Amino acid sequence: MDSFRYYSPTEIVFGRQAQEKTGELIKKYNGSKVLIVYGSGSVVRSGLLDEVKKILEKDGILYVEHGGAKPNPRLDFAREGVKKAIEAGVDFVLAIGGGSAIDTGKAVAVGAANPKTDIWSFWMDEEVPKKALPVGVILTLAAAGSESSPSAVLTNTEIDRKKGLTSDLNRPRFGILNPELTFTLPKYPLACGITDIYMHTIERYFTKASGNEMTDEIAEGLMRNVIRNGKKAYRNPKDYQSMSEIMWSGSLSHNDLTGLGNGKDFAVHGIGHVLSALYDEAHGGTLSALWSSWAREVYQEDIDRFVQYGKRVFNIENENKEEAALEAIETTEQFFKSLDMPIRLTQLSKGKLEDEELRKMADISTFGDTKTLGVFCRIDAQKAYEIYK
Ligand code: NZQ
Ligand code: ZN
Repeated sequence: MDSFRYYSPTEIVFGRQAQEKTGELIKKYNGSKVLIVYGSGSVVRSGLLDEVKKILEKDGILYVEHGGAKPNPRLDFAREGVKKAIEAGVDFVLAIGGGSAIDTGKAVAVGAANPKTDIWSFWMDEEVPKKALPVGVILTLAAAGSESSPSAVLTNTEIDRKKGLTSDLNRPRFGILNPELTFTLPKYPLACGITDIYMHTIERYFTKASGNEMTDEIAEGLMRNVIRNGKKAYRNPKDYQSMSEIMWSGSLSHNDLTGLGNGKDFAVHGIGHVLSALYDEAHGGTLSALWSSWAREVYQEDIDRFVQYGKRVFNIENENKEEAALEAIETTEQFFKSLDMPIRLTQLSKGKLEDEELRKMADISTFGDTKTLGVFCRIDAQKAYEIYK
């Protein structure tokens, strides 16, 4: 087993009506004036925002609002939030929503605590943040795992770049997980969320490390659970039991637990982000559209790993390793298809892309072929192009 550090300080409060604990939790983490960050309106329509405001008022917590985070959240909107947070003198950020609201909230928390620095310089690794306001989360979409992750991903539309900042400062103080809050989700974001949860573990599973039996068992168990309950939740989005499993899997899949000692690959995330930055594609859609192309490009690097994956996750028994590996890849595609997710680039909303565009994407994802993506197989610009193609 390789050396690792495990740090997952987020307090998770799970269950029906868990949002009633919001005020109590904010006070526990020393919040008295809060910036509430949310998305483009689902929490207004569902009544959750009003409910939370009443809870804060009852608990004597002051608040200002910053609503309007879009999917693939924009840097500009986060900058506006920083300004608002500083002007109002808030000491806590409460994000209500999915990954986009949460990541915007995290960005505001970093920016408000470092008022002299433009937040993008933290995202571009030009500066390292030393402090951030505390963040709490009420989750309405099981997907990105941002409620327990150290990452926050922003899109800078001026330079067509989508990029994450990873820092322990980004770990929320608490995450409120009430599966009922997801019941208003339309099918596509729901399926994108299930896909993203699966991908956060599979992108930790295919690395160069070996011999991490405990970590492998956790990862394989999580993937089996997400397949089983993901299909059920997709068929019946108001099924509390299956959505509970998905929601909890989402938080565990991206808090580093499922990859301890393995490191991370995340090449598919990297090449997927380019599609979100250029064409505003939903994050989960970019992942399912690209994963099997990535897998077919790289499986020869460690065919035994693919055989193990197929055997333990899908019960694939085939003495022929080549066939077993390819069957594992195809069965993963079948899983994505069962959620009506795209499994080819041409199935995304942009449709067929010209060769020139694919080359450009390969160039962007590898910073002009100066960096490679992933560790299972180092993806340079040529390989990225082959995968997109
Ligand atoms: O904006 P609203 O109106 O809230 O609508 C959202 C949005 O349209 C809607 N939605 C969310 N909860 C709902 C709901 N609609 C009805 N009922 C509900 N209960 O769903 C749509 C998608 O929301 P979004 O927050 O964008 O989705 P998700 O949670 O998948 O987050 C995606 C973002 O997270 C980033 C992605 O790149 C993407 O930008 N990621 C963040 C990570 C992290 N911070 O650790 C890791 C991930 O790999 C990912 O990169
Ligand atoms: Zn993801």
